[in-house]
Amino acid sequence: TQAVPFANEAFVDFTKEENRAAMQAALNKVKSELGQTYPLHIGTETIVTEQLITSINPGNTGEVIGYVSKADQSLAEKAMQTALTTFETWKKVPAAERAQYLFKAASLMRERKFEFSAWMVLEAGKNWAEADADTAEAIDFMEFYAREAIRLSENNEHMPLTPVAGEENRLSYIPLGVGVVIPPWNFPLAITVGMTTAAVVSGNTVLLKPASTTPVIAHQFMALMEEVGLPAGVINYIPGSGAEVGDYLTTHPKTRFISFTGSKEVGLRINKLASETAPGQIWIKRIIAEMGGKDGIVVDETADLEAAAQAIVASAFGFQGQKCSAGSRAFIVESVYDEMLGKIQALTEQLQVGLPEENFTTGPVIDEGSYNKILDYIEIGKSEGRLLTGGDKAEGNGYYIQPTVFADVHGRARMMQEEIFGPVLAIGKAKDWQEAIALYNDTEFGLTGAFFSTDEDRIAEALNNMHCGNLYVNRKCTGALVGAHPFGGFNMSGTDSKAGGYDYLLLFTQAKLTSRKK
Ligand code: SER
Repeated sequence: TQAVPFANEAFVDFTKEENRAAMQAALNKVKSELGQTYPLHIGTETIVTEQLITSINPGNTGEVIGYVSKADQSLAEKAMQTALTTFETWKKVPAAERAQYLFKAASLMRERKFEFSAWMVLEAGKNWAEADADTAEAIDFMEFYAREAIRLSENNEHMPLTPVAGEENRLSYIPLGVGVVIPPWNFPLAITVGMTTAAVVSGNTVLLKPASTTPVIAHQFMALMEEVGLPAGVINYIPGSGAEVGDYLTTHPKTRFISFTGSKEVGLRINKLASETAPGQIWIKRIIAEMGGKDGIVVDETADLEAAAQAIVASAFGFQGQKCSAGSRAFIVESVYDEMLGKIQALTEQLQVGLPEENFTTGPVIDEGSYNKILDYIEIGKSEGRLLTGGDKAEGNGYYIQPTVFADVHGRARMMQEEIFGPVLAIGKAKDWQEAIALYNDTEFGLTGAFFSTDEDRIAEALNNMHCGNLYVNRKCTGALVGAHPFGGFNMSGTDSKAGGYDYLLLFTQAKLTSRKK
């Protein structure tokens, strides 16, 4: 498989009847499997705990997706010991062999892609296309990181070190140890798979603590890795509470690295706890933290306004705005401001809110906590800006909120500064394109951004001046593709890990130089 160069997995075309039928069949199959109880996986053991996490469908809150076992500190410790022992053998498995597990898993996931997507429709509230993109990205991560592990290991043979007469010098990338992987619920397959397999293919062993709102799809991934024969103990699946299991493992002396994707608050807490040296700890823990965003789109008067409005609406409301890349802000120059507001309002009002399994464009937000927080922000927005559309909860037996747009919002307003992580867009007016860029840059975050213009000089300046990890021109600011758009942000958006890029596996390795006298 690795002989074929990496290419992105194609998205499913749901305008085709056969694909719609396949998705419906997958939804029916998954529905018939709801409500099961899932164990922890620690080495060769599966353990059903007394306390369970109940995962529900956010779009139909009476529907239970599954009951998932919950690790406490003693089970977390058991998983740590298992991962430590397994590391001693796994680190010696050649990279090319480790990569084969990822290739096999990618190929099985491709065969069953509708089923993986169906789990996310029901557990995370994604519409069909959003769920399909998530599955495609998961496949991409495995295909990409498997090739990367091979590339890095082969480079050992001919790493371009400066030649020195009488010496044979080599640099090789060796694994770190046991890592704690804490993925988010918003890309519950792609990011879980990406973070976990990157660590594992680099030779580390992993304690995987999935998000408590989407543990069942994470379990489907765990089961897949077992099915392809990944040795027991390489990935240990231990859902649990952040306060109990998360903090315990973050402060554990044997934790070598923590790979986290989630909120700024949790990321900063992990960074702080992990910076303390526990008794017996002999390393500085490595932290890979991808956190929030307050991403935005800048539009000048030369732009294709229709395309810009479409990109703004897609970026703000795709998966209900629950992407770290979501374009929750837009800055538009005065001369086209009113025209743009009209277009954005019209497009937003076309979005239909309803059940994800029926493939409504806009579904629920993830849980009650998010729902209440977003509705509170909408109230704040009513005092900070002019409500253009939305502004309330929406009908349905779940956490539905109307896609909401506020205009005339000041750059320093809370709506413009705080990550809401929901279907809420704040628009600000700028006197010209330079002021619009300055407004865009006025944030503690720096994940994604987009600039809409047809003026080459302005585009060149925007490319230099808009300060974010993923900057796009004349397109939406969501939807980074593995390999094409390595993904990660600046400042409070995190450590700029560039998932899906050529730098990523280096974060899970340490470079060892050997120099031999000839
Ligand atoms: N990678 C996703 C995107 O670009 C967000 O995590 O939208």
